[in-house]
Amino acid sequence: MTRNVIVGQSGGPTAAINSSLAGVYRTAIDRGAKKVYGMLHGIQGLLNEKYLDLSDHIKTELDVELLKRTPAAYLGSCRYKLPGIHEDKAVYEKIFSILDKLDIEIFIYIGGNDSMDTIKKLSDYAVLTGHTTRFIGCPKTIDNDLALTDHTPGFGSAAKYIGTSMKEIIRDGFCLEYPAGLVTIVEVMGRNAGWLTGATILSKGEDCEGPDLIYLPEVTFDLDNFKERVAKFLKEKTSVVVAVSEGIHTEDGKYVCELGNDINFVDAFGHKQLSGTASYLATYIAAELGCKTRAIEFSTLQRAGSHLASRVDLLEAFQAGGAAVKAADEGETGQMVVLQRFSDEPYQSGTAVRDVHKIANDEKCVPRNWITEDGAYVTEEFITYVKPLVQGDVTPIMVDGIPRHLFTPEELYKK
Ligand code: F6P
Repeated sequence: MTRNVIVGQSGGPTAAINSSLAGVYRTAIDRGAKKVYGMLHGIQGLLNEKYLDLSDHIKTELDVELLKRTPAAYLGSCRYKLPGIHEDKAVYEKIFSILDKLDIEIFIYIGGNDSMDTIKKLSDYAVLTGHTTRFIGCPKTIDNDLALTDHTPGFGSAAKYIGTSMKEIIRDGFCLEYPAGLVTIVEVMGRNAGWLTGATILSKGEDCEGPDLIYLPEVTFDLDNFKERVAKFLKEKTSVVVAVSEGIHTEDGKYVCELGNDINFVDAFGHKQLSGTASYLATYIAAELGCKTRAIEFSTLQRAGSHLASRVDLLEAFQAGGAAVKAADEGETGQMVVLQRFSDEPYQSGTAVRDVHKIANDEKCVPRNWITEDGAYVTEEFITYVKPLVQGDVTPIMVDGIPRHLFTPEELYKK
């Protein structure tokens, strides 16, 4: 490589996205990049000429290690939808004039399905106009819903956090006795894909029986049936724990979280903000069954829990970042790095690249046969799939008893 690299982060953050950033940075430097720039708040920031030189911030080996262990998008993120390449030429002219000014040979975007839409459009525009910058996507999302990749960096760490926290919640539920029992509803992110909610099964083992019910958005949710099942469990045990995806919906297509409140916020890609499912169901069960209920929303914690990151995940995230730079350096463009699984036991994986046009804006859901017939649990196949992805730990670098992260760049937050 003879020119410069620019990298951006986009969409919801994860505990592993900065490990991919570290992989991009390290590989770009190793392969001879003169400069490695970071877009601040992704493509939206770049349009406003907001970027930094990463070597001003990553100065030592320790900084690289800290970056890998730092949650949230180090460079800031965005959910910005580019117009179609024939819709608004001015936007593209602006972006490409900035890329020319910075002498960018390689553009890497770390993100999920919406972010791959950005790579798709930019690479199409470059081909159309004969521009030489190459565009490669690096996968990232806790939702694990990207097509053509076995799984996505970020999912394994979120799954590990969710499985661990679920186990702690189940144990806590047996402590206090309530006259009519306790029902705990735990809400998990993932939008319209149930991978993360299914990961609550990881709590199950010799010392824990796991959640009593698991509801994924791939199966239509029936309120009455749900109530009956919970009532049945309450006859048998003092504490019932239910995992629900934020994306579960009733037969008419309405999200359960919309039954309580209308959703007013919709992002640039048309996604509604899903939140409040557990709270709605806990109120409903308390009113219907007269028991004590508790609603728990993992919310931000499940994607920011880097203290519980999976070693496999952080390693693969780093490799994916490196593979993105390597692919671009070898002449690829309009591609996304994918993770391929060669075996479950021992777990073995590798990277390849696939056409981003076949990935952008698609949503990969949990196969129906990995969910039990009654739609209220996951099967052994699901467990076999998810288990290898949460293996191993990455010890945080502790200072005064608290994990240390790489300093947030001032450029990110100073007005
Ligand atoms: O796309 C990742 C994700 O974490 C989804 O699971 C979730 O619905 C969404 O982001 C939440 O986004 P925000 O933080 O913008 O509310």
